[in-house]
Amino acid sequence: MTNKINTQIKIGKLKLKNPVMTASGTFGYGLEFEKFFDLSKLGAIVTKGLSLEPVKGNAPQRIVETPAGMLNAIGLQNIGVKNFISEKLPFLKKYKTPIIVNVYGRRIEEYIEVANILNDTEVEGIELNISCPNVKKGGLQFAADKKAVEKIINGIRKKYKKTIIVKLSPNTGNIEDMAIHCERCGADAVSLINTIIGMAIDIKTRKPILANIFGGLSGPAIKPVALASVFKVARKVKIPVIGIGGIMNYKDALEFLIAGATAVQIGTANFIDPLTCIKVIKGLHDYLKENKIYDINKIIGTIKTE
Ligand SMILES: Cc1cc2nc3c(=O)[nH]c(=O)nc-3n(C[C@H](O)[C@H](O)[C@H](O)COP(=O)(O)O)c2cc1C
Repeated sequence: MTNKINTQIKIGKLKLKNPVMTASGTFGYGLEFEKFFDLSKLGAIVTKGLSLEPVKGNAPQRIVETPAGMLNAIGLQNIGVKNFISEKLPFLKKYKTPIIVNVYGRRIEEYIEVANILNDTEVEGIELNISCPNVKKGGLQFAADKKAVEKIINGIRKKYKKTIIVKLSPNTGNIEDMAIHCERCGADAVSLINTIIGMAIDIKTRKPILANIFGGLSGPAIKPVALASVFKVARKVKIPVIGIGGIMNYKDALEFLIAGATAVQIGTANFIDPLTCIKVIKGLHDYLKENKIYDINKIIGTIKTE
């Protein structure tokens, strides 16, 4: 038996050297982190959500710290897909790491247009954000609407040939039903969870702290909810599930893999320690070695419920 550890996993047409990706919106466009570590070490980079045109985002205040987490209401501020392609992508492609663009649309057609533009670039996959809780148009409006989701995925599939991931949230409806629906519509994978709707109030002014009133809760506070969602969904679909929510270290990541996730994304932890992804990659590798598990795929979905 060889001592080489295989950490490679597959998501649709994408082959990742390890299952650790960055979560959208917490890693900028990737380049912001190149001063901290070699981005080639990541399984994949998932960008901030991109729309057709640049978006200014919500008015401040847009972030609040909470016990074991944070609330954000950024409002999907971004430079727009065309600026991303001309200004960021050429530099990102220096690294041997697949780039997945998180796509956000205010209309069904916008998702399709952004995907079509990305089809002709070196971006290897897209993650459709149909589950953002802090924008007035788009986002959650689609998360509960099966017809809209079908139109988005079918519309994209007409031209888009690469990997399509759909990002889900437990904020609306039944996340298992929606995951099954996405699989039927032709999604290559689902990622979950997006942030959970929350709010905070200033007791002096009695006003909501976030200008948007509501924000998305992330960080360790949501990990149990995320883990339960991944466990439930992974039992219902055959496509890969990507686990997201409160992952701070390799042990958290392992829980998600054991629950059935093929890969994980790391979000809020990047703000606390920009090296978290690298530490999780090393931690997973060392765990496999110590336990003589030579292929990471052997751990996926191995939860024992009896
Ligand atoms: C500041 C911030 C911005 C985010 N922006 C996006 C976004 O643009 N698109 C998206 O799909 N998710 C976005 N998210 C959600 C994260 O990708 C992730 O699903 C969520 O934070 C849960 O993971 P975590 O607990 O590891 O942070 C954002 C989260 C935060 C904290």
